[in-house]
Amino acid sequence: MNLFDVYPLFDITPVKAEGTFIWDDKGTKYLDFYGGHAVISIGHSHPHYVKKLDEQISQIAFYSNAVKMPLQNLLAEQLGKLSGYTDYNLFLCNSGTEANENALKLASFHNGRKKVIAFKDSFHGRTSLSLGATDDAKLSANINKDHHVVFLPFNDVDAFKNAIDETTCAVIIEGIQGVGGINVPSLDFLRMLETECNKLGVVLILDEIQSGYGRSGKFFAHQHSAIQPHIITTAKGMGNGFPVAGVLIHPDIKAKHGMLGTTFGGNYLACAASLSVLEVIENENLISNAKETGNFIMTELKKMEGVKSVRGLGLMIGIETEGDANLIRKKLLQDEKIFTGFSSGKNTIRLLPPLNITIEEAQMFLNSINTILQQQLIPNT
Ligand SMILES: Cc1ncc(COP(=O)(O)O)c(C=O)c1O
Repeated sequence: MNLFDVYPLFDITPVKAEGTFIWDDKGTKYLDFYGGHAVISIGHSHPHYVKKLDEQISQIAFYSNAVKMPLQNLLAEQLGKLSGYTDYNLFLCNSGTEANENALKLASFHNGRKKVIAFKDSFHGRTSLSLGATDDAKLSANINKDHHVVFLPFNDVDAFKNAIDETTCAVIIEGIQGVGGINVPSLDFLRMLETECNKLGVVLILDEIQSGYGRSGKFFAHQHSAIQPHIITTAKGMGNGFPVAGVLIHPDIKAKHGMLGTTFGGNYLACAASLSVLEVIENENLISNAKETGNFIMTELKKMEGVKSVRGLGLMIGIETEGDANLIRKKLLQDEKIFTGFSSGKNTIRLLPPLNITIEEAQMFLNSINTILQQQLIPNT
């Protein structure tokens, strides 16, 4: 059997990883400024994470959600404490798209409505409802095309006020748009969304799958605006590579037995991984590290020739370049051995490194990108 060929691959085979570095099968060392798409939050193979997963797998790895699992309660308690959402309830699942799927379904259970408002350049996942709320027509097959979703321009107050009404079920927005090119919603826009949703009984869903878990310099990116959404979804950095996702739910949205469910969600290993991530984030002050190193990187990038604009917060950074961003990204990988991400629509390089990068590692990246940008500025002879 062959693999179903859906991924264009780099010709690199990683075999080992530690902190911010990855080694391939030829012994070449890479600096990881992408974290496997924002997944590596506390650094590769963090010793505390490895120890906790090791201990857990040797005790019990799995049983179904039909039994009591105190680790789930502990995770809910710790996540509530660190995020500030102590009175919310947690539903555990396995991936980002599944978290958004459950969030949208829950919104409709809550107010009985169907219409969803999403935004231009959004990405919320690749399954039914979350794909319906994703602004990328080429990802949808015919069977996916009957959703009740309206796409509005990002940060456009008038367009939003004209579109929302008492038939609207939910508004879904990323804390910071990731796949769409690192677009930060304005604080006033988020506050207006909160006010209008509350006025009309609409469920406000904040997708913090890429922007959450400390990456923006706050636990969740929307907390820069001090709003309180009804539902928050998380995944990626939550398990530092172990597949786990969560839906944080306002206490006004009531649970009923059988309303949501999953086989694997919240299993012992997922909880052990997620708990150890929270412990490391807290003990190593990774949220303030994300803010400080992120500010340092953004300040330095803004001084560089060849950089058109720098967008983002903390360690979620988009670099729009004068030259071809995809070519620069390829050169960073080939010549400088640095992994970064890319966003085609915005000619933007995306940085999503682990939250515990050091200033020295940040400086390594800055020196490398500066070298590549300067090469681009010299015309070919
Ligand atoms: C903001 C956002 N939401 C949802 C998803 C989907 O997550 P997953 O790939 O785990 O289903 C992603 C993945 O890139 C994302 O960036």
